[in-house]
Amino acid sequence: MTQPAARRRRKLTLRAKLFLGAVALALAATTTIGLLTEFAPPPGPEQPIAFSHRLHAGVHQIDCLFCHTAAERSSSAGLPSVERCMACHQYIAVRRPGIRKLADFWEKQQPIPWVRVHWLPDFVYFSHKRHVRAGVECQTCHGPVQQMEVVYQYAPLTMGWCLQCHQQPGATPVNTITRSTASRAELARGASRAPLDCVTCHK
Ligand code: HEC
Ligand code: HEC
Ligand code: HEC
Ligand code: HEC
Ligand code: HEC
Repeated sequence: MTQPAARRRRKLTLRAKLFLGAVALALAATTTIGLLTEFAPPPGPEQPIAFSHRLHAGVHQIDCLFCHTAAERSSSAGLPSVERCMACHQYIAVRRPGIRKLADFWEKQQPIPWVRVHWLPDFVYFSHKRHVRAGVECQTCHGPVQQMEVVYQYAPLTMGWCLQCHQQPGATPVNTITRSTASRAELARGASRAPLDCVTCHK
């Protein structure tokens, strides 16, 4: 009489053990994957106009800040206006299909509905200004954009990723003109100016 109940209990224990084992394995696997493999960047989205960073920022070496003017002085880097594109494309490659599309937006006085690539959750505060002024290169966070035909999200943008750099001794580059000699000396010793307290990024 007690036999089946005991067996059932044993079965349950076994199942529970298997379950816990599976959970532990899954956790170990995700941790290992997280540690060993790099974040696999998803491909960039299809954009309303096939704008190529490789061509503009790479081949023609147009400065990032020429188009993303706000990166140095505000929280967002911003996208260029149609007017900015037309400064060149009133004259350059005017007959090509991509430029005709561009001219269409221009004539209709409509902004180009670019598809956003990078998103942080609303509860995270991030600002370009301090990073760019501190001399952190765009490419450190965005990858080799000047080689990208279509921009994709290069870095995982997780909290761990932010903290990894903030924790690093000497995270702040030394060779920036905006720094005082004293702070440069401090930074040269490997001090990081990047804050770690929660309220820095979670206001
Ligand atoms: C001629 C203008 C121009 C230049 C120069 C330029 N960009 Fe862009 N950038 C754009 C436009 C337009 C978009 C939106 C379309 C797209 O994503 O390709 C964009 C999008 C981006 C995005 C994705 C934004 C998002 O949606 O999250 C990043 C990152 C970026 N640019 C970085 C750079 C960097 C770094 C450089 C310099 C190596 C650079 N750009 C040079 C015009 C430019
Ligand atoms: C320290 C890392 C870091 C650096 C350095 C950095 N970015 Fe970004 N960038 C981000 C993050 C994170 C986002 C997403 C922000 C969000 O969703 O609020 C972003 C978003 C963007 C966007 C789209 C949204 C916006 O802000 O308009 C563009 C365009 C962009 N970056 C361009 C640049 C350019 C150009 C540079 C160099 C001048 C640069 N970034 C330097 C981390 C960085
Ligand atoms: C500083 C000048 C300059 C600016 C600003 C500029 N472009 Fe260009 N663009 C060029 C040059 C140069 C080419 C290469 C033309 C060629 O291959 O003969 C080009 C090529 C292109 C092409 C490819 C045309 C084709 O089919 O071969 C597209 C699309 C384009 N640009 C869109 C844009 C958009 C959108 C903007 C604004 C975000 C922009 N450009 C801003 C100089 C510029
Ligand atoms: C490659 C290094 C690097 C990465 C990646 C990075 N930061 Fe920073 N961050 C810095 C440095 C360096 C400073 C200090 C700048 C200074 O000395 O003024 C800083 C300062 C800050 C500040 C304080 C300055 C301000 O604007 O109020 C905030 C907030 C911040 N980072 C948020 C973030 C977030 C959020 C992420 C991830 C999405 C991130 N950072 C990723 C290097 C980095
Ligand atoms: C340098 C910037 C930075 C600092 C400092 C920081 N965080 Fe975050 N945090 C982020 C970013 C970016 C995200 C969103 C991406 C993610 O979930 O990994 C995030 C997400 C979170 C989340 C949500 C996680 C989830 O799964 O949704 C919590 C909770 C959190 N942070 C707590 C903290 C606490 C507590 C501290 C202080 C010990 C802290 N953070 C410090 C950048 C930061």
